Amino acid sequence: MVCLGNICRSPLAEGILRSKISKMKVTVDSAGTAGYHVGSKPDPRAIDIAKKNNIDISTLRARKFERSDFINFDKIYVMDKNNFNDVIGLAENKNEASKVILITDILDSDSFVPDPYYGDLADFVKVFNLLDKICQKIANKIESS
Ligand code: 4NP
Repeated sequence: MVCLGNICRSPLAEGILRSKISKMKVTVDSAGTAGYHVGSKPDPRAIDIAKKNNIDISTLRARKFERSDFINFDKIYVMDKNNFNDVIGLAENKNEASKVILITDILDSDSFVPDPYYGDLADFVKVFNLLDKICQKIANKIESS
């Protein structure tokens, strides 16, 4: 799961997806395309909205997306078009580029997960609900594979 800062959207996506799948099935992780918040906890508003939904993301720490992620992961879900362009820009071959998926494509919608950082709690609720819907579909696919 990849966003810009790895403190709002992608840690929520990581926590939500992890909560929906069997522990042994897959490794779920998240990262940011920028390094501003490396080592930081998720934004307190992200921690709060996750907690209200019985998901603990308070122990996660931000890291920057790195080239090795193309090797370690089969799928790289990005939250918006900027994330998509930034991550695709680091791919060195077609196989790596083919792993990068705009996460809202899972819903067959021409959309993206909006950045709630400069918004309010209602924006975090919207992001949570959108990611919850998408991650349920991803989890269903994983569980039936
Ligand atoms: P995220 O949100 O990409 O969902 O983690 C942001 C977090 C921090 C900043 C921007 C977006 N920032 O500019 O510091």
